[in-house]
Amino acid sequence: MPVSEPNQIYQEIVDALIAMHRLTDGYTPGHEDRTAELCVKIAERLGLPRERIDVLHMAAQVHDIGKARISLELLNKPGRITDEEYAVLKTHVQIGYDVLKHISFPFNLAEIVWCHHEYLDGSGYPRGVTAEAIPLESRILTVSDIVESISADRPYRKSLGMQVALDEIRRLRGTRLDPVVVDACLEVIDLKLWHEGAA
Ligand SMILES: [Fe+2]
Ligand SMILES: [Fe+2]
Repeated sequence: MPVSEPNQIYQEIVDALIAMHRLTDGYTPGHEDRTAELCVKIAERLGLPRERIDVLHMAAQVHDIGKARISLELLNKPGRITDEEYAVLKTHVQIGYDVLKHISFPFNLAEIVWCHHEYLDGSGYPRGVTAEAIPLESRILTVSDIVESISADRPYRKSLGMQVALDEIRRLRGTRLDPVVVDACLEVIDLKLWHEGAA
């Protein structure tokens, strides 16, 4: 997605971070890219202005950059993971924020990433903040991340299918996930505006 001109330099910084991440992880940047495309479709559906969509797109493209600090063995581990391993995986959010906050973006890109595993009811991580502290962009990213993660093949398992993904966001609608965002996502999928694995 071409960004508007004032954001070009920031897009280039983001592209460099992605290129660095791709050197060591052949999966995560692709997941981020597909998630970013779904974010854009949902944001357009919600009528967000172009500048905010640009920022959301860039944030989504690097939302899991903190996984660069986590071993591929753990990231790609099939089957169940232990509580300790889950605790390690969760650190990717704070690590990503700590990297991105060094860049003086004139917008809240790092904060959007910081909140991408937070839930409206406060049951998310890393800080367990609630609805009012979670930007709309992060809410869109959270829903997109869930849908992409479930509907795509992952290194350690095959896709569970779009139906399972949509059932999951319906189940969490209004408790963990923003109902307006969930509804917009359901419309995007229903209208075939985004296809899993297509980015
Ligand atoms: Fe994540
Ligand atoms: Fe993700």
